[in-house]
Amino acid sequence: MVFEDYSPMRVLISFHSKTGRTESVTKQISEVLTKSNHEIVMHRVLPRRVMKAHRYNKDGKDIELVEPVVDLNDFDVVFIGTPVWNFCPSPIILSYLRQLTNVKGKSFVIFSTCTGLPGTTLKRMANILAVKGGKVIGSLTIKSIFDLDEEKLQIVKQFVEKLFASVDVL
Ligand SMILES: Cc1cc2nc3c(=O)[nH]c(=O)nc-3n(C[C@H](O)[C@H](O)[C@H](O)COP(=O)(O)O)c2cc1C
Repeated sequence: MVFEDYSPMRVLISFHSKTGRTESVTKQISEVLTKSNHEIVMHRVLPRRVMKAHRYNKDGKDIELVEPVVDLNDFDVVFIGTPVWNFCPSPIILSYLRQLTNVKGKSFVIFSTCTGLPGTTLKRMANILAVKGGKVIGSLTIKSIFDLDEEKLQIVKQFVEKLFASVDVL
């Protein structure tokens, strides 16, 4: 089955991005899917109180988010993207994942950006979703010490096209 044969799906892309790289990946995913007539909602996950990276989560408690939970029941697929912070998802995305409801049976695609050392980022995201009964159907890490160039964005494009072209991903 080819990409274009799919009937339009509702896709949520939730992401956190401090310096714009994860946002670039998010935009690329959105562009690819929009071209194939899927309906996209982009959701920037933001902490209610913005502070320096090392100050988040000092007490281990969840971070209060601006718009904590979007109803996942409205979507067929949910992408979640994070920058890698200290070999892990950012504490903002960790809080988002912990606060998510209606995860059971839902299909997720997880992605991260980093300079080169992703550590256990995707594994940790996948574990939280798995515990809640979510199904991770794809994952991607984009490594770059520079702003994302055309080559990196092509990797994202190919990843999304391949994912949606494979039969029975959903
Ligand atoms: C607090 C902090 C911790 C980071 N830790 C890592 C890390 O462990 N491994 C890595 O490869 N990059 C690390 N980085 C770099 C970011 O993951 C990378 O620049 C990422 O693409 C930024 O995404 P953004 O532009 O969407 O915020 C860190 C950056 C910050 C601010």
